[in-house]
This record gives sequence, structure tokens and C-alpha cells, in this order.
Amino acid sequence: MAEKFIIEPCEELRGEIEIGGSKNAVLPVLAATILTGQENVLQNVPSLSDVEAMSGLLETLGAKTQWDKKSGNLTVSTAAINSQEAAYELVVKLRASFLVTGPLLARFGKAKVPLPGGCAIGSRPVDLHLKGFAALGAEVDNSHGCVTVEARRLKGAKIYLDFPSVGATENLMMAAALAEGQTILENCAVEPEIVDLANFLNAAGGKIRGAGTDTIKIDGVRDMKATQHSIIPDRIEAGTFMVAAALTRGDVLLTNVTADHVKPVTAKLKEVNILVEELETGIRVRHDPSHEIISADLKTMPYPGFPTDMQAQFMALMCTAGGTSIITETVFENRFMQVGELKRMGAEIKIESRSAIVEGVKKLTGTQVAASDLRAGAALVLAALRADGLTEITGIHHIDRGYYRLDTSLNKLGARIKRV
Ligand code: UD1
Repeated sequence: MAEKFIIEPCEELRGEIEIGGSKNAVLPVLAATILTGQENVLQNVPSLSDVEAMSGLLETLGAKTQWDKKSGNLTVSTAAINSQEAAYELVVKLRASFLVTGPLLARFGKAKVPLPGGCAIGSRPVDLHLKGFAALGAEVDNSHGCVTVEARRLKGAKIYLDFPSVGATENLMMAAALAEGQTILENCAVEPEIVDLANFLNAAGGKIRGAGTDTIKIDGVRDMKATQHSIIPDRIEAGTFMVAAALTRGDVLLTNVTADHVKPVTAKLKEVNILVEELETGIRVRHDPSHEIISADLKTMPYPGFPTDMQAQFMALMCTAGGTSIITETVFENRFMQVGELKRMGAEIKIESRSAIVEGVKKLTGTQVAASDLRAGAALVLAALRADGLTEITGIHHIDRGYYRLDTSLNKLGARIKRV
């Protein structure tokens, strides 16, 4: 039987919470271990089902992994990789598994990976990845739902991305790391996870400069060495707890968080009258009793804009704010999956093309709702904390993909969530 959450309304959340390692940083770094052909030790790895799926995929290719979940150390040896073909069942489960394409191509001259296909939040094509591989000299065949790329050795090139895609930047950076000569990626993504990946690659002997800016220069090397790398804190998990503190009018200290990485969320919370302080120990988020939470408009954008991965959670907060907010999604074409469910809980939201118009209401009410994807699911959990009566959320395996025991962590802060 699938698990579900039963959530009681709670008083304000209070206490301290330690943020885990970043899901979106560890997935590309796991793919990058393929490039080394050595044993790599990753630290601060979060215990998430997506990470399980990615290391499972590496194992099917011939890698050996050993994961000490208590310490957060994941050892990956890619010396014995003997297959360059990813299985369909794994790629459809986890879109990020398409990130093995660049490393397999660069190290073995070949990769065959099924197209990741659509998902709940939109069609999510990989055309930018493929154009980049072709520019690096690979033969690219995209037929029968499968991508095959081949090249004896990739050759450095100048590549301009039409859109600063996170995944394409990562795949191409990894491919170029072992290419012959220099690659220049322009208009690339600048997310903190890109910088983390570049740090891993450089620690392994790569020559990458400019990660975190819109132009990355990669001097290809012949081979890479074994390395140890600690994954950055998860800025989306942190942002989710920041919004949870705000929504319940609470007072929460987040530790193991990089203040710079959550700046877009911090700025929005301040705009709606939440107090956010950077302390030596972490970030303290609390409600200001003398100021009601007010509405604010927001538009999702590539980093350092407001993250699309925080849009649904912030919408939950705006559902009970004073006033009307216009929330515009510009990164994905269909990322308002939470709206119908929030409306079932009494929220007043209208969708007009890429914008959602949210009218703050006095109270949300608990009912049965379903999590359609990871962040939409998180938004429903947050809304339920503040709703009258019980909320039952099904589809919580989506939530477990990206949050390590969200229920347990929130309960430590005073929430009452049962997993049944
Ligand atoms: C990553 C994150 C995801 C986050 C997203 C945007 C991981 C594992 N996932 O996803 O949580 O929501 O960044 O911050 O890190 N696009 C194309 N062609 C391409 C590639 C992308 O048109 O070849 C489009 C997508 O359809 C989408 C937009 O670009 O509309 C952004 O996608 P991208 O930045 O590539 O996101 P992901 O890497 O898939």
C-alpha cells in the first residue's frame, strides 16, 4: 500500500533544523564520477530516493557504490564500468539520469540513453544537450525514443546555449572535461549546483574556469583522478523550511545553509514582512507579530532569480497573505500542478496563461489532496500545516524524492504529521 501523510494543523513552528546536501548538486556529481574511472568519495550526500536511483543506474553500468547513510558518505568506483547503455526504466524514473550521456560519451566514445520524455511539469526537451554534443564533434542519432551519441574523441568548441539550461550546461561541461582542446560555453546556467560540479571536476584534475558566470572555459584533459568532494547544502530544502516557518508564523533557525544561495527566497520573504536574519550559526526566519504577512508578485527565473523549484511553496504562503499576488512561471511551461489541490483546500487562485493570480484567504481547510510532483507535494504539506482540520496527502513518494523525511523534520519543529 502506498504511504500517505495525515496532517493536523499546528501552532507556529519553532526550533532548529539542519539542512542536508543538495539533491540537484549530487545527481550531476554522481554522473561526473564516470569521467574519473576511479574511486571517489562524496560527502554530505542526502538520503533521497533520487540519489538511490542515480547510484542504481551507475551500478547497472558496472560501477560499484557503497553508501554509509549515517555519515552521508557515498563511495563510487567507476573503474569497472563496462556498459554505455542506460536502461529505459531508470531514465523515465529520473530525468537527471540523462546526465550520464556526456560523461559516457567523453570517456568511452559512446552512449545510448533513452529520451527522458515528459513529466508532470512540462515537456522538458533535451535539444540543447544534443546540439552541444554535436558541436563537440559527436554523431548524434535521436530515433526510436533513444539518443545515441558517438565520437572517437570529442573536440573542444564554442557553444552558445539558447537558454541557460542547468542540465545542458552540466552535460556539456562534463563532456568537454575530457575533450581535446578548449571549449567555451556561453549563456550557460549559473546555478550554485553548476559551481559545485565544476569544483568536483577540478578536484579530479579537470581544468574549468568561470563556473557561476555565464561563460565557462574548459580545457580538456586526458584523464582524471580519484577524488573526495563534499556536496553543497540544499538551497531548495532550506527555502522550503524558510517558507514553512513563515507560513506557520513561527521562528526557525536553519543550519548548514549557504545564505547567498537562498538570497532570492530571503528577499521575497522580507518583502512580505517576514524577518530573516543571517547569523553566524545559520539563518533565522521568524514572523513579526507587529506586521501581517502581505502579498507579493513573483516571477521564476534562472538563478539568481526566484527558483522555479520554490514557486509552489511560496504560492502556499501567498494563499493566506493579505492581498493579491501574481505568480508567473517562466522556466517551465506547466508548473502549476499544485493549484487545483490548493483550491480544494479553500485557496482562491486563477490561472491565466503563465501566471497564477492568488487572492489571500483568511483560512485554508483540510481535505484529501494528491501530490503530483516533488515541489507541488511540498507546497501541499506546507498549506496543510496552516489549514483547519485534517489534511490527507497521497502520492508522497514524490516528496521523498527530494526531502529526507520531511514529516519527521517538521514534527521536530512542532508539526503533527503522521505517515501511514
Ligand atoms: C534542473 C533541476 C530542476 C530545476 C531546473 C530549473 C536538477 C536535477 N534539476 O532541471 O529541479 O527545476 O533545473 O532550475 O538539477 N530546456 C530546453 N531544451 C533543453 C534543456 C532544457 O528547452 O535541451 C528547457 C526546459 O524544457 C525548461 C527549461 O529549459 O523549460 C529549464 O530546464 P533546465 O534548466 O534544463 O532544467 P533541468 O536541468 O531539467
